[in-house]
Amino acid sequence: VSSGPVDKLKRPMRDLRISLLDQCNFRCPYCMPESTYNEDYQFLRRQQRLSHDEIVRIAGIAVSLGVNKLRLTGGEPLLEKNVPALVARLRALPDVEDLALTTNGTLLKRYAQALADAGLDRVTVSLDSLDAELFHRMSGGRGELDTVLAGIDAAAAAGLTPVKINAVVQRGVNEHTVLDLLERFRGSGHIVRLIEFMDVGNRNGWRLDQVVPSRELLAAIHARWPLAPVDPNYAGEVASRYRYADGGGEIGFISSVTEPFCGNCSRARLSADGVLYTCLFATVGTPLRELLRNGASDDELRALLQNVWLRRNDRYSELRGRETVTEAPLRKVEMYRMGG
Ligand code: GTP
Ligand code: 5AD
Ligand code: SF4
Ligand code: SF4
Repeated sequence: VSSGPVDKLKRPMRDLRISLLDQCNFRCPYCMPESTYNEDYQFLRRQQRLSHDEIVRIAGIAVSLGVNKLRLTGGEPLLEKNVPALVARLRALPDVEDLALTTNGTLLKRYAQALADAGLDRVTVSLDSLDAELFHRMSGGRGELDTVLAGIDAAAAAGLTPVKINAVVQRGVNEHTVLDLLERFRGSGHIVRLIEFMDVGNRNGWRLDQVVPSRELLAAIHARWPLAPVDPNYAGEVASRYRYADGGGEIGFISSVTEPFCGNCSRARLSADGVLYTCLFATVGTPLRELLRNGASDDELRALLQNVWLRRNDRYSELRGRETVTEAPLRKVEMYRMGG
């Protein structure tokens, strides 16, 4: 399958991230601030979202073009009914080497075993702080820390490992709780990844001075627990990996602001309403839903995906410096819609 298309920058398509729905039971201020996402906000209706049949069909075509990693995301994917049934169908596709799910962890305890039984390989849980009060605030007053920790334990017990824990670090918000987070998971086999706060979407009021550069965190962590770099798992891996020199396990840094990794970005994204995006910071994508519903053949869809990829030249993070200061800012698609 390595004969799939390569884009203008010679990057193959390897990874498809599938957003199951645009809803979430959290209101993280940097993603879905309550001021916008309240009773008045119109989320996608069921009819507007892709069905499992439609998702499996697109995923199968993507796999035939070289994709070997699938990730289910949202919004919060576990709010969708019957995710295990979808997982089982994606698992049945040939050549899917890695099938993962990103979640805020609140419903994980309930679903972990069923997801594992259906063939999910692993989960990534978003968890920005272990300070219960701060965590509650960072989830927009919705999240309970203990529920998420129980979800992480359930995932590990079900074998959805390695469990990855993603923490977005914001200057002046949770940067002072980073070492506690690492300490808690040292030696657990879980991999904490510290993410630089990014300017995704248009609504999170992003400012450069809220970004804590990874190199700064690295120095602080190294002073407490010496670290050694680890080679990437695969070409184009998002996180830079490190291990504790004392054997406490692995951590990662996702430094899309200070050290962009567009050079070998092989990720495509499918939104819940069936739009294909070739960059997390895209302003436009390729709508597939009406084609699916109007009888397009697999060959037609495959040709379309292939052409979209052949034309791709996205490298937003590398160009960011210029783009974010333009007077008329780009109207980017919100991250919870296209799938983080
Ligand atoms: P692994 O498959 O475990 O390596 O995970 P991953 O790093 O591909 O995916 P994950 O969903 O855990 O991504 C973690 C975070 O990295 C996301 O929430 C984003 O903040 C950021 N990220 C992931 N992919 C991209 C990307 O293509 N571009 C940018 N700029 N950031 C990304
Ligand atoms: N910058 C970095 N990461 C973000 N996420 C959401 N918004 C941002 C942002 N502005 C992360 C979430 C979660 C993943 C799906 O995306 O915290 O880990
Ligand atoms: Fe929900 Fe994740 Fe967005 Fe928070 S960051 S509102 S948990 S989708
Ligand atoms: Fe890929 Fe776009 Fe992220 Fe660059 S900014 S790594 S091209 S998704």
